[in-house]
Amino acid sequence: MAEPKAYRNFIDGEWVESEAAAVFEDRSPADRSEIIGLFQDSVAADVDRAAEAATRAFLRWRGVPAPKRAEYIFRMGEILVRRKEDYAREMAREMGKPLREARGDVQEAIDVCYYMAGEGRRLCGWTTPSELPNKACFTTRMPVGPCGLITPWNFPMAIPSWKLIPALVCGNTVVLKPASDAPLPAYQLVKIAQECGIPRGVVNYVTGGASAGATLLRHPGVALISFTGSSETGRAVAIACAEEFKRVSLEMGGKNAMIVMDDARLDLAVDGAVWGAFATAGQRCTATSRIIVHKKVLAEFLARLTERVESLKVGDPLDESVDIGPLVNEAQLKKTMEFVQIGRDEGADLRTGGVRLTKSEYGRGWFFPPTIFAGVVPEMRLAREEIFGPVLSVLAADGLDDALKIANDTLYGLSSSIYTQDVNRAFVAARDLETGITYVNSSTIGAETHLPFGGTRRTGNGHREGAAQTALEIFTEWKTIYVDYSGRLQKAQIDNN
Ligand code: UN1
Repeated sequence: MAEPKAYRNFIDGEWVESEAAAVFEDRSPADRSEIIGLFQDSVAADVDRAAEAATRAFLRWRGVPAPKRAEYIFRMGEILVRRKEDYAREMAREMGKPLREARGDVQEAIDVCYYMAGEGRRLCGWTTPSELPNKACFTTRMPVGPCGLITPWNFPMAIPSWKLIPALVCGNTVVLKPASDAPLPAYQLVKIAQECGIPRGVVNYVTGGASAGATLLRHPGVALISFTGSSETGRAVAIACAEEFKRVSLEMGGKNAMIVMDDARLDLAVDGAVWGAFATAGQRCTATSRIIVHKKVLAEFLARLTERVESLKVGDPLDESVDIGPLVNEAQLKKTMEFVQIGRDEGADLRTGGVRLTKSEYGRGWFFPPTIFAGVVPEMRLAREEIFGPVLSVLAADGLDDALKIANDTLYGLSSSIYTQDVNRAFVAARDLETGITYVNSSTIGAETHLPFGGTRRTGNGHREGAAQTALEIFTEWKTIYVDYSGRLQKAQIDNN
């Protein structure tokens, strides 16, 4: 067998090994004998060097006109389009999502590049009259500084792009630390940035575990941390950032609910449920984790859903006919199995799935079948905790008010959805579901990159990312500018009263 490829860190425009000269293996979750590559197990000194490079480069990069910065981003988009298929295949192998979803993941990065390339010629502020004569008032956006980007494995190209691309257009420099289960798509993004001529030190890339991340959080030169991951880690990130007065944007867990009303088109609701719950094997922050069904249609919905789910094909993510790939690693598999046990112990009704797949074709990977529990009630842990695996809980509701109450009875607030044909019910739900995103007659997944992405409560800390205008709020600071051209001292609040 050929030696696995060794990937390096990218610091100050050079591809370098970690100072500790240690690497970790990145293996395919579909076949653990397959090594995707070796990545640097970075230590504090590597992260410090990357942060220092980003700090030096910031002084130059912030002075490059935004339309010029955006031209680099446009070129990145062009390269991504050309190599989309290769990157998608690599991603499917590396983290296990089926090929068609991996293509979608790369497409998100393309969409972000094209949207943000246009933003380079906007980055609008606003002007407003002064209360005094002969005085101008306006606002501009300033970059924040070197940004630490800590990204997850479930959208290993899309989510780094949501952070990297707006950060760069706004004039920031970055140190990107991707998750160790899927560092390759982020590596490709960084390579493309280099290929497009983005100056040295502007984009830095370090791989490694939690200690590399912790160094990034603490580095005094890093002005902002943008983190996507679990709520637990997010809390620690927020605390570390508070101590250093760093800006922080957090995108964390979810326990997303879909409501199916008695007037819903059940065929559509079943399609949405299957896609929302089991795409990426349920490993999405937006995954449909609870389905709250009007009791009048519960039996029929469950029967149809179970039948459909039992026809899904689990297997090699590179096989075009496969619906569900493996879980990303052993820990995710164990967590999923643990929740199945919790569901059984709590008395929920296991309808399908629930047992790890170990037949020969699955034996080398972390495969788990799509699993449905019926008879779940809001008090169960199954209905309350994020699982991040292919386990769906079905709950019953008496009507819309009851369904909304159950849906909102959660610590999280990312995504939600309702299936109904009644426009009044749809608007009530859109108003009253306490999540950052609500879908009507669609599943809880499938956000488009030019709209705000994020959630309430423990899902986030008030920011909305993606390529949307709201991403600019994360990666810029407002500057207010007053120009007095009266030729004398004019005092606000005093001279005009
Ligand atoms: C995530 O769930 O972690 O909305 C990100 C979606 C994707 C992004 C999901 N566009 O499903």
